[in-house]
Amino acid sequence: MQPIVSKDSVVYFQQECYVQLNQYLTQANHSKIFILVDSNTHEYCLSYLMSKIEGDYEIEVIEIEAGEIHKTIETCTGVWNVLSELGADRKSLMINLGGGVVTDLGGFVACTFKRGINYINVPTSLLAMVDASVGGKTGVDLGNLKNQVGVISESEMVLVDTEYLTTLPANQMRSGLAEMLKHGLIKDKAYWNKLKDLSNLTLNDLGQLIYDSVVIKNEVVLVDPTEQGLRKILNYGHTLGHAVESYYLTHPERETLLHGEAIAVGMIMEAYISAELLSLSKEQLDEIKEVILATFPKITIPDEDRKEILKLLVHDKKNSNGNINFVLLTAIGDTKIDCVVEEKLLLASFDYYLN
Ligand SMILES: NC(=O)c1ccc[n+]([C@@H]2O[C@H](COP(=O)([O-])OP(=O)(O)OC[C@H]3O[C@@H](n4cnc5c(N)ncnc54)[C@H](O)[C@@H]3O)[C@@H](O)[C@H]2O)c1
Ligand SMILES: [Zn+2]
Repeated sequence: MQPIVSKDSVVYFQQECYVQLNQYLTQANHSKIFILVDSNTHEYCLSYLMSKIEGDYEIEVIEIEAGEIHKTIETCTGVWNVLSELGADRKSLMINLGGGVVTDLGGFVACTFKRGINYINVPTSLLAMVDASVGGKTGVDLGNLKNQVGVISESEMVLVDTEYLTTLPANQMRSGLAEMLKHGLIKDKAYWNKLKDLSNLTLNDLGQLIYDSVVIKNEVVLVDPTEQGLRKILNYGHTLGHAVESYYLTHPERETLLHGEAIAVGMIMEAYISAELLSLSKEQLDEIKEVILATFPKITIPDEDRKEILKLLVHDKKNSNGNINFVLLTAIGDTKIDCVVEEKLLLASFDYYLN
């Protein structure tokens, strides 16, 4: 698989990752290497990565607790302190080995520590491989508001090796699948069609599908790295999806929702709005709902939660001039950005999802 080149970074695949990593480490002459892991990637992924690093480097491992609730500035403070105590300097390198929480938080820590040290992303979850580790967005949550604090700055390289997925729990695999479905919906109908029949997929297919997904994401980010326009399309399903995710995050009495599971809900609701406001056909709308629900069983959203969820939309980062801006579909594979949606339609989208 050919490397995928972005503005300031390169994504390598499979064993080529380690050829490139070792070459880079030999040439770069870092003072020290810090590998950031969470408790799970410490257990399941670290020894494999270590076995691939050739040469004698001073390596320290920093572990954070696993899970979105730890993607906070408090966790960053902990990591900044450890870096400081362990003598990290501006020539240090950080390797983020983990899912999107580790790559988002680790990227942010690296970009801000001593005004920025080099970092490399080694995504270990499907979601991080196809989405979080690519494109340079880093950051943390602020209370229940997702990704409110962060910077955009690309890693030195991204190393995508599907070997890590062998220990990833099934629900986390599904979560990543949601972002892959999104890539098809926003930009590539042929890719959506390939993904439609997931039951027939093999692990071999998965490697190619991950590659295709990274190509789609990278094409978008290359045109618009700082999200002035086109990059907004990557937020399809995320306006309502993030609101649902935030709401469930702070209501532990409801079911726990993974990021991709919440985005799956958001994609169906925003497809409904697309069909109401734009040219998305009823057939394609129903197809989207059917394909997504086949993998993501319907969640319950009690009536009384709906307005509370909608209140969270005001914090969406795509908003401007007091308007809540949506990315909607004109067809499968095509989008329109900056769509303003009335509350009545937002409420109706819950009904479409639930009925
Ligand atoms: N920066 C971006 O552009 C971008 C894009 C999409 C999502 N994100 C962010 O990514 C995050 C979600 O990422 P995620 O779903 O990877 O979450 P995550 O990092 O929490 O990983 C999910 C779970 O899987 C575990 N895990 C990871 N790899 C494993 C492996 N190989 N074996 C066993 N367990 C493993 C983790 O410890 C965690 O418990 C969210 O915070 C989201 O905002 C960022
Ligand atoms: Zn997402």
